[in-house]
Amino acid sequence: MSIILRAIEADITTLAVDAIVNAANNSLLGGGGVDGAIHRAAGPQLLDECRHLNGCATGDAKLTDAYRLPARFVVHTVGPIWRGGQNGEADLLASCYRRSLEVASRHAVKSIAFPSISTGVYGFPIELAAPIAVATLRDAAPQWPALDEIIFCCFSSSDRVVYQKILDDGTS
Ligand code: APR
Repeated sequence: MSIILRAIEADITTLAVDAIVNAANNSLLGGGGVDGAIHRAAGPQLLDECRHLNGCATGDAKLTDAYRLPARFVVHTVGPIWRGGQNGEADLLASCYRRSLEVASRHAVKSIAFPSISTGVYGFPIELAAPIAVATLRDAAPQWPALDEIIFCCFSSSDRVVYQKILDDGTS
């Protein structure tokens, strides 16, 4: 069965999918943006579990329980900070999406939702980040046959339009 990729506009903490992805920082000890929203909604036990993970390298991903969130798991990944595009940012961003799928698939995850990693505080231009996200997941998804659905959970209608155009275009 071919996997469904779709873009929605929503608060990722409300999604009752198997896994939601958190755009975290290297400490995994919380922050603002989607990281702050996920920790607020999950409750303090999430931070307790994260404290034992010894952080996370940029481009890597680690899984925790989701506690009070409707999802079953949270996959924490750390995107690159945008420094102009000549410092390996594209490869590191692609690695976030690939590693998140790998980590989630070890837990028989069928549905997973991603925020637009690195395009907020970390400054990665969304018109460059979104094609990387879609292309990486389109390429990696077939390796994980249990996966049914990948959601790009956008926090604004303008972001959703960016992802939708790429999904409709089908080339990236
Ligand atoms: N649901 C879905 N998406 C959200 C939500 C939410 N509740 N809140 C924010 N976003 C979106 C932002 O609008 C942006 O499109 O998530 C995307 C990523 O933005 P950030 O959360 O700022 O993440 P990032 O750019 O990867 O920066 C990570 O910010 O919060 C800190 O601890 C985090 O240091 C880390 C840095």
